[in-house]
Amino acid sequence: MSSVPVLKLENVSKLYDGATPFLALDNINFEIAKGEFVAITGPSGSGKSTMLHLLGCLDRPSKGEIYIAGRPISRMSDNQVADIRRDELGFVFQAFNLAPTLTVFQNVELPMMIKNVPKAEREKEARRNLAAVGLASKLNNMPSQLSGGEKQRVAIARALANRPKIILADEPTGNLDSKSSRLVMDQIEALCRDRGITIILITHEHNLAVDADRIIHLKDGRIESDMRKKSQFRRLMK
Ligand SMILES: Nc1ncnc2c1ncn2[C@@H]1O[C@H](COP(=O)(O)OP(=O)(O)OP(=O)(O)O)[C@@H](O)[C@H]1O
Ligand SMILES: [Mg+2]
Repeated sequence: MSSVPVLKLENVSKLYDGATPFLALDNINFEIAKGEFVAITGPSGSGKSTMLHLLGCLDRPSKGEIYIAGRPISRMSDNQVADIRRDELGFVFQAFNLAPTLTVFQNVELPMMIKNVPKAEREKEARRNLAAVGLASKLNNMPSQLSGGEKQRVAIARALANRPKIILADEPTGNLDSKSSRLVMDQIEALCRDRGITIILITHEHNLAVDADRIIHLKDGRIESDMRKKSQFRRLMK
């Protein structure tokens, strides 16, 4: 295994410029290793989504450098960054973001079509991923015919379809009841661990965060704590 971190942030700040400029992230430094499961927690407005957007190359920092597998993104063109997003990253959002006019199967197939994966391979991969999230019997359903938890499991199958190196999830269980939340999280974790995929999960729910290998807690745009051991965190929560 390579010792180059999959992600590294070096003195990263994000200033939202505008009528009232706001420093949402203030000089953040950390590294994430391959296969690590990292939870990002913190109060509303602490900078979690801003951080995930930077890690997911959906936005660029105002200062500092982000390295993906050792490559600094500031030196890349927008097209090169878009290629990284497509080829190496998988996203899961609170609002599911499924295409409403496509079936479950087509939703999972779509990112592979964009990547020109041959039809037979696309179908095999879509079936494999939908089976992995327990939805083999819902392939031809429309998203509107699914429960919230099922929709999120389609979104997971879709995120995994391009064989990403990193899954970035922003409150993926925010719209789900506690039982569905647990199922969705268990599936994300099992699939990513099985495939060596790094998980970066934003969550408000401590009972989900404690499953992570590491918890980065943000406050006012800064890292308040960065804890690696579950047991250590559990003790602090008591
Ligand atoms: N486009 C923007 N322009 C100006 N300020 C912004 C912008 N986006 C976010 N902010 C501010 O930056 C701060 C961090 O926002 P962010 O969305 O990262 O918070 P969060 O930790 O994800 O919160 P939540 O738990 O509510 O989702 C907030 O104070 C927010 O108001
Ligand atoms: Mg947020």
